[in-house]
Amino acid sequence: MGHARLLPRPNVRPPAAEGVTTAKVFAFANQKGGVAKTTTTLNLAVAFKERGLRVLVVDLDPQGNLTMSQGLNPDAIERSMFDVLVQRIPIREIVHEREVDVAVSSIDLAGAELALSSMIGRERALEKALMPVQESYDWILIDTPPSLGLLTINALVAAQGVIVPVQCEYLSLRGLVQLENTLAMIRENLNPRVEIVGILPTMFDGRTLHSREAIEILQENFGDLLFETRIRKTVRFAEAPVRGMSIMNYDPTGPAAEMYRELAEEVLHGAKAREHA
Ligand SMILES: Nc1ncnc2c1ncn2[C@@H]1O[C@H](COP(=O)(O)OP(=O)(O)OP(=O)(O)O)[C@@H](O)[C@H]1O
Ligand SMILES: [Mg+2]
Repeated sequence: MGHARLLPRPNVRPPAAEGVTTAKVFAFANQKGGVAKTTTTLNLAVAFKERGLRVLVVDLDPQGNLTMSQGLNPDAIERSMFDVLVQRIPIREIVHEREVDVAVSSIDLAGAELALSSMIGRERALEKALMPVQESYDWILIDTPPSLGLLTINALVAAQGVIVPVQCEYLSLRGLVQLENTLAMIRENLNPRVEIVGILPTMFDGRTLHSREAIEILQENFGDLLFETRIRKTVRFAEAPVRGMSIMNYDPTGPAAEMYRELAEEVLHGAKAREHA
């Protein structure tokens, strides 16, 4: 028809039609390594799925731990989030159906930051890629690498909420301040709605004074932002990924699965409270 059709579409999501829900997008971030980002992303995702929710997890870490923990080999994967972010292929093409739907990582993803760095809209590549699947899921959970580089920034720009797992043993408050500063910059420049939903204490061992002190320090510094759920330390977590599955299905009645069900309850409750606020 008129020449208006030739204009590029603005990069905004149209309002959802009546009865159509769009996914809530949460990122799991902490630039410190080994704090249980991946473990939390996967097990919370499976806990959501148990409740009948439609869940997509996005493995945005070139290490590919989440991909591996679903029995997929990141070294043998041909197309991954790299192709989605850099070559702009539809994300659906790299989603594998496992315990939950997984948008997979591969070793190529290590080159994504460099490839993206010279592209216009480099911080919004993930946000854009998720738009076509927004209505197919209730939740999209993004696992990030242990850094505050462009991949993590893409996750924070695409997300409404951030869950920050912290390891009770080696608490790094300086690292958390740095993460908060990055989020403040993202709110100012790229995504005004993103907020920390909660700080999640992981690898908690109630028998040690050190773990209990870590919780006190978190409480003093973050107050209400601290989740009530604590993820206790157990060897089960190390066993499950080797079997290519979540703790939720590896040991469904064990205490570890229960802790993530409790977290799911707390997150869903908080999400509802915010909707009505
Ligand atoms: N509650 C727990 N108790 C004991 N071990 C745990 C617990 N949660 C996770 N782990 C183990 O700790 C290690 C690190 O966990 P995970 O890979 O989830 O951390 P991460 O923050 O994603 O790490 P990275 O920064 O490298 O991506 C894994 O071997 C995992 O199995
Ligand atoms: Mg990880």
